[in-house]
Amino acid sequence: MTKRTKKSEKLWGGSGLDSRIERYTVGNDYLLDLRLVPFDCLSSIAHARMLGKVGLLEGDSVLALVDGLQEILTLSRKGQFAILPEQEDCHTAIEQWLVDKLGDAGKRIHLGRSRNDQVLTALRLYYLDALKTLRREVAGLATTVGRFATSHKQTPMPGYTHLRKAMPSTVGMWANALADSLEDDDVLLAAAMEIIDQSPLGSGAGYGVPLPLDRAMTARELGFSKVQENPVYVQWSRGKFEAAMVHACGQVMLDLNRVATDLVHFSMEEFGYFELPPEMCTGSSIMPQKQNPDVLELARARYHVVVAAETQLRSTIANLPHGYHRDLQLTKEPTFRAIDATGETVAIMDLVFQGLKVNKAALEAGMTPELYATQRAYQLVTEKGMTFRDAYAEVKKDLGK
Ligand code: ARG
Repeated sequence: MTKRTKKSEKLWGGSGLDSRIERYTVGNDYLLDLRLVPFDCLSSIAHARMLGKVGLLEGDSVLALVDGLQEILTLSRKGQFAILPEQEDCHTAIEQWLVDKLGDAGKRIHLGRSRNDQVLTALRLYYLDALKTLRREVAGLATTVGRFATSHKQTPMPGYTHLRKAMPSTVGMWANALADSLEDDDVLLAAAMEIIDQSPLGSGAGYGVPLPLDRAMTARELGFSKVQENPVYVQWSRGKFEAAMVHACGQVMLDLNRVATDLVHFSMEEFGYFELPPEMCTGSSIMPQKQNPDVLELARARYHVVVAAETQLRSTIANLPHGYHRDLQLTKEPTFRAIDATGETVAIMDLVFQGLKVNKAALEAGMTPELYATQRAYQLVTEKGMTFRDAYAEVKKDLGK
């Protein structure tokens, strides 16, 4: 059970805050912060060890704090660490838990940091973790799609431009386009990771901390590649790094949006090129015959969730003066929403490609003569020595066009 201190006891010493103002300023942040708890604990462990190393915290206190934080990690893993609305955020909830449990040692943890660098550290650790998972899932999807492409390498498929039959193609070529595209998307996901991979811890409220902190040590302990040196830039980058990451997610989602449209389209009875297995289709409450591709439609629509999140992020931070502003709290929700939407969609599209049926007969029937018109014109050029324009005109005439 989480022990709690007296209601409304703020880290900033406030106790007379109007409850309506409090509810409004906290919003759902205390709930969103649940996913940050483990990362804030890791960050606090590194911070405590660093304070110990530079002589700002006694060895006993360091050990007690690390033990306490590890206990919170366990509680959080079991879903047993709660954040109360009046605690505002995970940082306060964790610190109050430590004070309740350890007394003075708990009161020493906040030396040399601010919630402004703390929240950024927890967020970045979470983003790096989420990006690692996402990149693994994207690579997995690319593999599934690549396998699908290989097994349908020779299966013919009409190529379309303007949604009109254009040239012969194959299912393999179509599916490999997605696999190749996902591979390129990963370049942007990796770039987002590289930018996020710098430690904000020790930058304090946004202007550094007048104590001999070892920022390189906490960065190393937390697995960051480097320290983000300029404390003003640290705050400056909040929301901007998120937008870069969400943009990369948007690239993945754009691919899935368009492939979903192709699949909805080509699984229509009128085409019948592809078929979603019945266990992936939903029915209608009124029309008994329906097998609807809702899963694809929702994958398609989730792209817009991610695009909207990027827009929300960019708008929230644009026009802000430098330094921390509480506006920045509202960068959390769209970011989390975009990460979730992307991860869920990548996983679901992997399932779709594993179950997708290819109707070879319908595809072969779709390979109607006009698809070969350009090829025939080329033949007239290469075999009969005609100019391309004359050959083009002749084939067009033969087709009655
Ligand atoms: N929930 C806050 C956020 O996300 C934590 C930082 C609070 N800092 C402050 N100066 N009020 O930004």
